[in-house]
Amino acid sequence: MAVVAKIAPSMLSSDFANLASEAERMLRFGADWLHMDIMDGHFVPNLTIGAPVIESLRKHTKAYLDCHLMVTNPLDYVEPLAKAGASGFTFHVEVAKDYWQDLVHQIKVKGMRPGVALKPGTPVEEVYPLVEGENPVEMVLVMTVEPGFGGQKFMPETMDKVRALRKKYPSLDIEVDGGLGPSTIDMAASAGANCIVAGSSVFGAKEPANVISILRKSVRDAQQSS
Ligand code: DX5
Ligand code: ZN
Repeated sequence: MAVVAKIAPSMLSSDFANLASEAERMLRFGADWLHMDIMDGHFVPNLTIGAPVIESLRKHTKAYLDCHLMVTNPLDYVEPLAKAGASGFTFHVEVAKDYWQDLVHQIKVKGMRPGVALKPGTPVEEVYPLVEGENPVEMVLVMTVEPGFGGQKFMPETMDKVRALRKKYPSLDIEVDGGLGPSTIDMAASAGANCIVAGSSVFGAKEPANVISILRKSVRDAQQSS
């Protein structure tokens, strides 16, 4: 069975002062997930939101909150984010090489869905053990820009990693994040990505609902022709 398309607007591009209504608007426009970029100003040179903001948003929505942790110490975030109501917890492999087993275990114990992310320069082989272990992650996020900021240019060379993952794991959720929009989605969809994060292309559009449906259609079309 083909994996399901999930379109996840990145709330980093929203008006943070109106987060609840921005979230509501995206769900009304057809979003499946809300992508929440958590940055610590250390792993990446930007500082965004943490558990208190997730907790506030959770009071306004039942949506799947797809949390992407661009932080140096993801272990410290498991408990607070679980309490805050996070749904997915995706950490970066680059910081968790020595303790990912414990981390994945804790994420699951706390009732969240574990995912692992990799930066453009990180070889895809580094996540294989996390997908194949006895306590596996349930999603791989292939960064298609350097993490840290919205509005950057999609890096097509990262598609080799998506292709390799899809070939090896036909039923794995593979997420792409950075520079995705109507002009780049076909590359990601045909490589095998099914979870699509899009910030500036959705929030910057006159009709975000159209962009969301273009993204979904591209994933579905690619699945049908593969
Ligand atoms: C970047 C973040 C992304 C970002 C994507 O580090 O992980 O989620 O918000 O934004 P766009 O779609 O504008 O590249
Ligand atoms: Zn992200």
